[in-house]
Amino acid sequence: MNKTITDRHRAALAKFPTARILVIGDLIIDHFIWGSVNRISPEAPVPVVNVTRENLLLGGAANVLNNIYALGGKGEMCGVIGQDTMGDHLLELLQTLGSPTEGIIKSADRPTTKKTRVIAQHQQVVRFDREKSGPLPTEVLEKIFAYLDKNLVSFQAVIVSDYHKGMISAELMALLMRKVRTQKNIPVIVDPKPHLLERFTGATILTPNVAEAEKMAGISITNEDELCEAARLIKEKLGCAALLITRGEAGMALFEEEREPLLIPTMAREVYDVTGAGDTVIATLALGLASGLNFSEAAILANRAAGIVVGKLGTATVTPEELLGETA
Ligand SMILES: Nc1ncnc2c1ncn2[C@@H]1O[C@H](COP(=O)(O)OP(=O)(O)OP(=O)(O)O)[C@@H](O)[C@H]1O
Ligand SMILES: [Mg+2]
Repeated sequence: MNKTITDRHRAALAKFPTARILVIGDLIIDHFIWGSVNRISPEAPVPVVNVTRENLLLGGAANVLNNIYALGGKGEMCGVIGQDTMGDHLLELLQTLGSPTEGIIKSADRPTTKKTRVIAQHQQVVRFDREKSGPLPTEVLEKIFAYLDKNLVSFQAVIVSDYHKGMISAELMALLMRKVRTQKNIPVIVDPKPHLLERFTGATILTPNVAEAEKMAGISITNEDELCEAARLIKEKLGCAALLITRGEAGMALFEEEREPLLIPTMAREVYDVTGAGDTVIATLALGLASGLNFSEAAILANRAAGIVVGKLGTATVTPEELLGETA
């Protein structure tokens, strides 16, 4: 049994099935094309991939929701898709997860964001993206506002998952923060992109990685003193209760008001694939906070989840049993 898991963690994990988390953010569909390469094309100096398999997975903010369900929690997405086949696939994938889709708004002005990765011999050959980012049309924003008006009260925490595709505008954040203040005071947990930092004023906790924290603070981070200074600057600008900077192989650092920084080393023993580790962190953090853990307890749990997920191939998820250390 791992010593990092306390009785309070166990009690919180037992409450995960009753937690409902709202994830607001940029929906992406991850399209994987698997195959093998045996020759170079006679037409151009490019490999010819013999396709053996394809699959579609929940990506971007939807991967955060995927992580929540894997952890035994429940939740809903609020995000935008296009009026296209990929949008229908995304809705199906969410339904398969067991999640309601009332918060998914179709927009006529953009396709469903899709990232296609071609993989042969365990290597990515090429990636192509189909997307249109930028501000959402007014009628789409109004539908999002109406959804929040009706549904925010039914959640215990809200995650903002920003992939910089246009969903997380200053206008949407202002409305969300106002609703949280006036309708239901739940934790607002943000995985930010660094531009327009003021959007996140008043959020409960943010989870930037080091590169994002550098841009947000406007200083470089090359040692722990600079890490602490960056955290101080960001917290001062935003007035957030806490800041969790994820540091890749160095683990994470939690900064809370009136407390010494908490440096949490990674739990990972073997690292196979770090893709999506940030999504696992924010999903676990939100479920932890929604289930009665304080910031440091929830961060320790999130770090443990991240340590497990980087030991798996692909954009993976973590189960409660794995978190408890009941499976290898
Ligand atoms: N190479 C690694 N070795 C060990 N642990 C890792 C490694 N990379 C990530 N982690 C774990 O995953 C957590 C989140 O990773 P990271 O700091 O890379 O976030 P991120 O850049 O937001 O990730 P993402 O690519 O999902 O956006 C870290 O805090 C750490 O616990
Ligand atoms: Mg990230």
